[in-house]
Amino acid sequence: MPSIRRVAINTGGGDAPGLNAVIRAVAISAHNRGWECYGIRDGFNGIFFPERYSDGGLMRLTRERVSGIAHLGGTILGTTNKGNPLHFPLHMPDGSVKEVDRSDEILEFFAKRELDALVTVGGDGSLTIAHALSQKGLRVVGVPKTIDNDLDKTVTTFGFDTAVAFATECLDRLHSTAQSHQRVMVIEVMGRYAGWIALNSGIAGGVHAILIPEIPYDLEKVAARIRARDQDGRLDSLVVVAEGASPKHGHRAVAKAADTGLAERLGGIGEQVTAELQEITGKDCRLVVLGHLLRGGSPTSFDRLTALRFGAAAIRALEEGQSGIMVALAFPNVDYVPLEQVAGRMKSVPLNSDTLLTGRDLGICFGD
Ligand code: F6P
Repeated sequence: MPSIRRVAINTGGGDAPGLNAVIRAVAISAHNRGWECYGIRDGFNGIFFPERYSDGGLMRLTRERVSGIAHLGGTILGTTNKGNPLHFPLHMPDGSVKEVDRSDEILEFFAKRELDALVTVGGDGSLTIAHALSQKGLRVVGVPKTIDNDLDKTVTTFGFDTAVAFATECLDRLHSTAQSHQRVMVIEVMGRYAGWIALNSGIAGGVHAILIPEIPYDLEKVAARIRARDQDGRLDSLVVVAEGASPKHGHRAVAKAADTGLAERLGGIGEQVTAELQEITGKDCRLVVLGHLLRGGSPTSFDRLTALRFGAAAIRALEEGQSGIMVALAFPNVDYVPLEQVAGRMKSVPLNSDTLLTGRDLGICFGD
């Protein structure tokens, strides 16, 4: 493999705490090898729409530019979960929208700007794009990111710990108001089709029921748990529901259906659960939707360190001549896995996971 002189990095999909830490580690590790580092703006939009940016869509990541950013939420490069280059939505003159593959433009851009490799930081969508680009001959290393923790082949993704820590703090606060008013509080959390955030925060936060996509629920079971608590004189209950959870004989709640180049948006299950629990139990029920609050704020030290380790490991991999791989956490070390083993795969909560069993041992109801 020819040696690297200029490396690019981009961040794609929903933002997650820790993105800036990866950017910092990539840029500094590159500089320390004598390489130049550039950030592509807003996923791949910096390549497709250079006219939108004062820097032409490519941000020079100098040592100074990445100074003091590791603790900041968001991403200094911007991100997007619209406009997948493999299925890019093209608006036709007749008002219709068709999907086109714009990945060749990315390769042409890298050749023209003499960029030798790409570090792409993202979730399943971004890593699938990375795999396709690598198959077309681009030198690429993926870095797994998502608050949802739903990526396979890595123990965890960065962003998840921060989301769980924040959700847990919210649950701690909601216990006291639920107790004061003898209410049922329902808390809806993100996580897409996986229940990791709900499960981990729910157990850490000492809730009484957790509803996750992996276990279709029966609200009568949750109501029975609430009634049993009432009979014990504990008149408050907390129920965490993952946005992707669904009733045994029903569907998940979709806020917006999938459209050309856009994934479906989940949301609304918390409202359903709250209304139905109020109806069944006759108790005063309230809903809190944590939503995008889970994606904001400063990364926890665990996420920050993981992100810094991932960024540095991505540069080491490129230096060693590796490509078409994803950096992964394989405790206690960072490891590399082929992108083809990651692309298009999802990691759900295993029904025999010890965390889930811990919840059951603690008497938490899973609606089954
Ligand atoms: O994947 C991260 C995530 O926050 C999911 O938990 C959620 O379903 C989705 O992104 C929300 O996306 P958007 O930012 O488009 O509302």
